[in-house]
Amino acid sequence: MSHTSRVTRELWTAVDDYIDGLFVPPDAALDAALADARAAGLPPINVAPNQGKLLMLLAKAVGARRILEIGTLAGYSTIWLARALPADGVVITLEADPRHAEVARANLARAGCGNVEVRLGDAAETLPTLEDEAPFDLVFIDADKEGYPTYFDWSMRLSRPGTLIVADNVIRAGGVVDPDTDDARVLGVRRFNELVAADPRVSATAVQTVGSKGHDGFTLAVVRET
Ligand code: SAH
Ligand code: DHB
Ligand code: MG
Repeated sequence: MSHTSRVTRELWTAVDDYIDGLFVPPDAALDAALADARAAGLPPINVAPNQGKLLMLLAKAVGARRILEIGTLAGYSTIWLARALPADGVVITLEADPRHAEVARANLARAGCGNVEVRLGDAAETLPTLEDEAPFDLVFIDADKEGYPTYFDWSMRLSRPGTLIVADNVIRAGGVVDPDTDDARVLGVRRFNELVAADPRVSATAVQTVGSKGHDGFTLAVVRET
């Protein structure tokens, strides 16, 4: 981010606006979710609209019926994921902050997402309670970056062959290639990427992204069939 000029950021945002103008029409429930998150003073660290739609399309593409999200915030990404589900599908989303969970529950109710359960608590503690509700078809990792290595471990335990694991914020404006970084969040996602890359149980890649949320990226991993 610090190496990126204002003009460059403006261009990325203009292109995101162009993409949204084509592919992501205004949506009352999603727009209200962002407005209420802002009004409640929550940080604007939701996925971008086109990224939310990407999550929905990925969930549809894998035919997800059971989705696990780690890091709810105001439920913006959660609404996108819930919209990919068939009538009997479910999203379980984990959130540590009670204020965030409260805003999310209201946003999800207004969006008509009756198929979402917000589980309050530190994900390191709520993940081990989900074994009876596994396997999940898609896992979206987006909570505290220091926890990503642990969240990968639990994603694998709660998966089946074919499960898609998606992780947000795995590039951190290029921080992952800074050998001198002492940022615990960058170290967390870098360790996560290394763990995923070295794990023979998954086939994985990462893609960097630029846009209204800056320069970051997603890691995608599919649990192998054999
Ligand atoms: N997925 C959301 C953004 C999530 S922001 C979206 O794109 O719309 C990250 C969220 O993770 C924050 O709400 C934060 O409170 C939550 N979080 C941070 N540490 C956590 C932990 N240990 N367990 C569960 N949630 C956590
Ligand atoms: C942060 C967290 C996110 O999930 C995100 O998409 C962007 C930033 C953060 O904690 O700074
Ligand atoms: Mg994120």
